[in-house]
Amino acid sequence: MFSTNNTYYHSLVATILLVLTFVFPSEGQLSASFYSSTCSNVSSIVRDSVQQALTSDSRIAASLIRLHFHDCFVDGCDGSILLDVDGNITESEKNAAPNENSVRGFDVVDSIKSTIEASCPAVVSCADILALAAEASVSLSGGPSWNVLLGRKDGLTANQAGANTSIPSPFQSLANITSKFSDVGLDTTDLVALSGAHTFGRAQCQFFSQRLLNFNGTGSPDPTLNTTYLGTLQQNCPQNGNGATLNNLDPSTPDTFDNKYFTNLLINQGLLQTDQELFSTDGSSTISIVNNFANNQSAFFEAFAQSMINMGNISPLTGTQGQIRTDCKKVNGS
Ligand code: HEM
Repeated sequence: MFSTNNTYYHSLVATILLVLTFVFPSEGQLSASFYSSTCSNVSSIVRDSVQQALTSDSRIAASLIRLHFHDCFVDGCDGSILLDVDGNITESEKNAAPNENSVRGFDVVDSIKSTIEASCPAVVSCADILALAAEASVSLSGGPSWNVLLGRKDGLTANQAGANTSIPSPFQSLANITSKFSDVGLDTTDLVALSGAHTFGRAQCQFFSQRLLNFNGTGSPDPTLNTTYLGTLQQNCPQNGNGATLNNLDPSTPDTFDNKYFTNLLINQGLLQTDQELFSTDGSSTISIVNNFANNQSAFFEAFAQSMINMGNISPLTGTQGQIRTDCKKVNGS
């Protein structure tokens, strides 16, 4: 009798706690249902807008997920990358070295924000729009879907110096890139899975041309570059040519989100030095992860979705912190 009652009380308390967690999510905790009563169709607004944008720009899905990545790696996912120089913002992240003349999609984010403001004014943060746009971009391109955790607030500051130091560069060693990921709480599996986003989108010649001729002063191209692929890249990126010329990050299926990025690495067709290093660095723990994702697209999709959630959880502002910007480019009232 006592033990039955005891069990009853335990399950009652557990149920109450569970209900409370959903009704009052604790601060610092994002939740998939954050806008369910204030803007229940926010995900479909974002998805429809990304789908619309894709009809005139096949690259936009790739550009949008990259915005979320470059946002999250600098002071957390707080929409700081979207701020223009204005008022108290004297140096924007947009103008930081990894972003200037490289990241794109700001106009699409602004148009998504206006559409959302028209149906649910002042409740959806720009930081959450980036997270939702990243998921829509991947799923509309053939990749996995996941439940995006929401409830981020927008930051009041931009950190250009932080963007210069925290965002990985394509000229860094695997060890340095790994430590930039671990600085924000992401592990080696996250690094390999998220690098799989290079299954779509473009890269300018200037970000890999060091591999094409005199690699590390050897007088020869990067030996981990497939020779046929090398020829194509040398043609598209001639010496003293335009460093801004675009190339597909995934030469096999340029606009599709699939695991071809990893099968490319197996045949030395990674575009950036940092891509190929995941597979070609002797003794690295990344090699077996690349092999797994190359052989098993479902394993990649599952890991990718989890790693996107992990990345989206980097230091969000929640509760009373930050604000909901009305215009993603400006701090309110500035
Ligand atoms: C691991 C370290 C990474 C490095 C060194 C790196 C570097 C780069 C570089 C140099 C470009 C080309 C930029 C240009 O030509 O203007 C690029 C493009 C891109 N990156 Fe990364 N990236 C990394 C990780 C990631 C992650 C984690 C994601 C997303 C989850 C991502 C998504 C993309 C996408 C989708 C593009 C194409 C964007 C477009 O076409 O507009 N990258 N990346």
